[in-house]
Amino acid sequence: MTRQIIISNRTPGTSTAAGGLAVALRKVLTERDGFWFGWTGEFAEDPSDEAQFRDVGGITVGGIDLSRDEHHAYYEGFSNSVLWPAFHHRLDLTDMRPEFYEGYRAVNKRLAAALAPHIQPDDLIWVHDYHLIPLAEALRKHGINNRIGFFLHIPFPEIETLNAIPHHEDLMRAFNAFDVVGLQAERDVATYNDYALNARLGDLAPSAGNGRHAPTVMAFPIGTAPSGFAALLETEQAQRTRELVARAMADRNLIIGVDRLDYSKGLPQRFEAYEQLLAAHRDLHREVHFLQIAPPSRDTIPEYQEISERLDLVAGRVMGRFAEPDWTPLNYVKRAYPQAALAGLYNLAGVALVTPLRDGMNLVAHEYVACQDEADPGVLVLSRFAGAAEIFEDALLVNPHDTQETADALYTALRMPLAERQSRWRHLKAVIEDYAVDHWAQRFLTALANDTSTSS
Ligand code: G6P
Repeated sequence: MTRQIIISNRTPGTSTAAGGLAVALRKVLTERDGFWFGWTGEFAEDPSDEAQFRDVGGITVGGIDLSRDEHHAYYEGFSNSVLWPAFHHRLDLTDMRPEFYEGYRAVNKRLAAALAPHIQPDDLIWVHDYHLIPLAEALRKHGINNRIGFFLHIPFPEIETLNAIPHHEDLMRAFNAFDVVGLQAERDVATYNDYALNARLGDLAPSAGNGRHAPTVMAFPIGTAPSGFAALLETEQAQRTRELVARAMADRNLIIGVDRLDYSKGLPQRFEAYEQLLAAHRDLHREVHFLQIAPPSRDTIPEYQEISERLDLVAGRVMGRFAEPDWTPLNYVKRAYPQAALAGLYNLAGVALVTPLRDGMNLVAHEYVACQDEADPGVLVLSRFAGAAEIFEDALLVNPHDTQETADALYTALRMPLAERQSRWRHLKAVIEDYAVDHWAQRFLTALANDTSTSS
């Protein structure tokens, strides 16, 4: 029987939740045989190359420990100080130390060596995200000829930016060891294909005689589990959170933002847009309240400390400028909330501000739509630069750099008549159902299973 092997940097059961990725993939494995593999989340001084397996809530999870130095070069270094900023169009925030790429390659090699003995010939292997681009190439060196798919959860960079990444040709060549490469959006597929066609790629084309063809590259926009969110709304935690916050809001309209505290999310620009809105529309004072939930992330990396401090300043400025003894225009919470509590808040909020400067998909947009009531749905204000913009035509689309445009869209959202809100929401609801995470996994796995690009 075909087993499903999922590989990602973070695995279930480690101390930090892997957000949307974990939620999406857990379901895949509860329905199929197989296991999840990656970093155990543990550090060791001299880590063993032998994989350790355990049961985590009914699914088998395997992995290896990493040394602190390995983790620093692979995770904080190449993954999150080179690939993450570059893929999000922020070369200015990269830190291109040569040892980062070496460490990144080395950890991928160790993961492959530990995993290879546990692979059976019919297993379908599905690798996730930018931490693991070289993994298939490393597995092939261990004689693994299985079908291997890759899904990139973040955006694919523009060509000039890609060319500025150290070792980009070596890195891009590593994609050729996959059978299917899945990206979030059509814009990403177009850039990937451009790069593969044009960028000095003679030698990046799959080399003749190795029996492999170039991977199938397609967009597989990821979604959420709409029925799961609808069920969460029924929980006591969702209802209690909703009630408490509704009481504190009195009759004010709640605007909500939920993002990891990351410079790609456009949070300072979002706060500034809100500031412009309040400056231009005195009629909104005391009538609205903006709640931004921003759990800290990767806070050992200096750029993340900086964005956190910058946001403190902007939030303080908006408060000082507009708050009244009986009205706080904004609440800014640097903490993670359980999904049920978020569901309650999404349900209460009349507007969601989802304005990343660049984003692979953005699942908050899907979650917000999933949690609205047909009788009185809220409005989604969405960045044009989120992958979600390709499928959410009925959101109010904005350029998040243009804070005036965002402020205007926010005003439109707050004043939108019920009939228009309902009609937009109905369309958005149909879209999130179409792209539900189950369909996403099914589409990807079907493409991987049917793929004919490997010669047998
Ligand atoms: C994004 C990435 C995921 C990552 C998550 C949280 O969604 O696509 O791969 O797990 O951020 O980031 P972290 O660095 O804490 O795993």
